[in-house]
Amino acid sequence: MTREALVSLACEAMTRAYTPYSHFQVGAALLTKAGKVYQGCNIENAAYTPTNCAERTAFFRAVYEGERDFAAIAVVGGLNGVVKGYAAPCGVCRQVMREFCGEDFLIHLWDGREYRTLTLGELLPLGFTGADMIP
Ligand code: THU
Repeated sequence: MTREALVSLACEAMTRAYTPYSHFQVGAALLTKAGKVYQGCNIENAAYTPTNCAERTAFFRAVYEGERDFAAIAVVGGLNGVVKGYAAPCGVCRQVMREFCGEDFLIHLWDGREYRTLTLGELLPLGFTGADMIP
C-alpha cells in the first residue's frame, strides 16, 4: 500500500469524526504488516477527558481484532475536516503506538499539499516500554 493510498483512507476516516466540541476532525488509517487497514476517527465527549483520538480508535479496533504487527499509520486532521496543516499524533497516542510498535514504525502525515513521514523513534525518543520494567 502506498503512502498516498493510506493517507486517502485516513481522509475517509476523518469524515466519521464525532467532534461537537472542537470541530477538529481527525482520521487515521493503520496498516498491518500483513497489509490490512484499520481506520479510526476522534470521538469527543462532553466531559472532554474521555475523548478518544483517531489514532487510538484505529489501534484499539485493530488490537480487538487480534492484530499485533503494524507497519505504518497515516493521520490527517483539520477544523471542520479541512486539512490545512499536519496533525501530528499527541503524546498519549505516541505512547499507545509504542506499546505495540518498534521505533521503526512509520507515521505518515499530510497537510493538504505535502506529505511527511517520520518514525516512531523520532516522535517518541527514549519511549518507555514493558521491557524497561524487567530487572
Ligand atoms: N486529536 C486526535 O484525534 N489525535 C491527536 O493525535 C490529537 C488530537 C483530536 C482530539 C480532539 O477531538 C481534537 O483532536 C482536538 O484536540
